[in-house]
Amino acid sequence: MQIIHTVQALRVSLGHAEDTAFVPTMGNLHDGHIALVRQAARTGSPVVASIFVNPLQFGQGEDFERYPRTLTTDADKLAAAGCDILFAPDVAEMYPEPQAFQVLPPLADDLCGAFRPGHFAGVCTVVLKLFEMVRPRYAVFGKKDYQQLFLLKGMVRQFNLPIKILAGETQRAADGLALSSRNGYLSATERQEAPRLQHELRAIASAIAAGEHHFSVLEAAAAAHLAEAGWKIDYVSVRSQATLRPPAAGEGKLVVLGAAWLNRTRLIDNLEIDRGAF
Ligand code: PAF
Repeated sequence: MQIIHTVQALRVSLGHAEDTAFVPTMGNLHDGHIALVRQAARTGSPVVASIFVNPLQFGQGEDFERYPRTLTTDADKLAAAGCDILFAPDVAEMYPEPQAFQVLPPLADDLCGAFRPGHFAGVCTVVLKLFEMVRPRYAVFGKKDYQQLFLLKGMVRQFNLPIKILAGETQRAADGLALSSRNGYLSATERQEAPRLQHELRAIASAIAAGEHHFSVLEAAAAAHLAEAGWKIDYVSVRSQATLRPPAAGEGKLVVLGAAWLNRTRLIDNLEIDRGAF
């Protein structure tokens, strides 16, 4: 596997190849990322991964500084998973000047965006830049960041980018906790508590599958259970898979999303629900 740090060297290495499968990451890789790399490899195209902790998507007081940087072990994991090129630029390479032009996505103030102002503009902007540098045929993103995946699909569609977005299933620990780089922040006690978010989302999904359609009652009950267990809730919300907005009456393809804090660690998760149109 080649490790490349500059845009110029990346372009030389890729030549005019536009048939790669690309996995953008912020590093500190876990099995969820590795599953995305393997999914990229299954396309048959050469695999490019990037590692860049993007300052533009972190708000004031968020964890940009303490976000774990583990390039050497990440590179070993990527090579073992079948990655051909690792692109790992530094901040000056990605942003040689202040990034005045930015992508302003819809839903930027909703769900996670309501609690992380500027986050999705930062995500879409860096991904657009990475897409332009790598020019992949495929790009793989995990479903754990459901709103991010939704917005990036929209960006690719509306800017006519010749890229097929592939969605990777969320990888989970045996107790149901979605794998995330931020799980590393959890103390042993918090780690034991963490699967509760997923369990509450699962309870909502089961109730909806059983015919319950008072979503706000289910959302409030889940939030109350989490609060009782010591969580600080950003949101628990049932949405339409198609629009990510509150579902229209009778809509069948839903997703329940949640974000909540265990002390200093913010966890997110979601679950798709297909109850068939009725
Ligand atoms: O999901 C992530 O790790 C990041 O948001 C991404 C897509 C690599 C953009 O920085």
